Amino acid sequence: MSTEFTNPNLKVLYSPAEIAQRVKELGTQITAEYAGKDLVMIGILKGSCIFLADLIREIDLKLTIDFMAVSSYKDDTVSSGDVEILKDLTNPIRGKDVIICEDIVDTGLTLFRLTEMLGSRGANSLKIATLLDKPEPRIKKDLKIDYCGFQIPNKFVVGYGLDAANRYRNLPFIGVVKNPAEA
Ligand code: IMP
Ligand code: MG
Repeated sequence: MSTEFTNPNLKVLYSPAEIAQRVKELGTQITAEYAGKDLVMIGILKGSCIFLADLIREIDLKLTIDFMAVSSYKDDTVSSGDVEILKDLTNPIRGKDVIICEDIVDTGLTLFRLTEMLGSRGANSLKIATLLDKPEPRIKKDLKIDYCGFQIPNKFVVGYGLDAANRYRNLPFIGVVKNPAEA
């Protein structure tokens, strides 16, 4: 791995090869389950961009992609779970089979609200794919995750799209931040 990515504050959790293998498996599963359907893969910006880019190249179907950007009010002392749409989809999803692609599910509040909002738009089906699932801090315990790359412990991770203060998204691996104050 390039020395450019050497950072003593990061510990590799999943290597590029491990991620690629798991993404390939998810792509194969989605290919089998969505044959003959009108699949739209929706990437939630910015964290899912790398996962989405790799995943769609492992799906052997005539799919389309779209993007949304949302902000969750996670800095509130009492988490409202409210989600604001910063950028909406370009195309309607009525009648489509939709998979929302996220980088990580933590409390589950973002995806819970997002599925509520998209759920009213007449899609034929709506499922969730996330690269990482951190079950321990989950508030929305009934949130159904349909496709998951890896379940991880309750640690702050970066890389492969995931950020700390908007940095580290370009790391080719997923790493645990040893000291978040120094990230
Ligand atoms: P949730 O609403 O708590 O599930 O928030 C999920 C969002 O929080 C993700 O889309 C990420 O932007 C962010 N997030 C949660 N955990 C991490 C992490 O370990 N690293 C980077 N971002 C995270
Ligand atoms: Mg995110």
